[in-house]
Amino acid sequence: MKAFVFNGPNLGRLGKREPSVYGSTTHADLVDLCRRTGRQEGFEVEVRQTDHEGELVGWLHEAADGGHPVVLNAGAWTHYSIAVRDAAAQLTAPLIELHISNVHRREEFRHHSVLSGIATGVVAGLGVDGYRLALRWLGENAREG
Ligand code: DQA
Repeated sequence: MKAFVFNGPNLGRLGKREPSVYGSTTHADLVDLCRRTGRQEGFEVEVRQTDHEGELVGWLHEAADGGHPVVLNAGAWTHYSIAVRDAAAQLTAPLIELHISNVHRREEFRHHSVLSGIATGVVAGLGVDGYRLALRWLGENAREG
């Protein structure tokens, strides 16, 4: 199995970006964590980050065509991008919506997600550890068939 982790806008600035909200882990550290978790679980993990919506839409098409599961932190697009939702809706393997922060404890505009209604599950508020937990779940789910 191969799984994708897709990170949307501003997530390339992890570590520098509002550390009181998102922590001190950098995006490079996050890539290592995800790859390591994949190795432990026995599958390949590819992590990508983009600030361009159309690029994310293309990556979701690629995951849909390949039948790959996706852990998706769409950042701000989570809250309004129907284009990202429509692309994610084409996935046939599990989709985990992920947020580093607990969006429900924050500003009201972060409380609504256009993705949750098509996601297999949602992880929010567990920091970057959420990625590890989401990938472990994908591993267990694949083993259970
Ligand atoms: C986020 C939460 C979003 O509201 C925000 O726009 C982000 C990051 C998170 O990981 O907590 O960019 O998805």
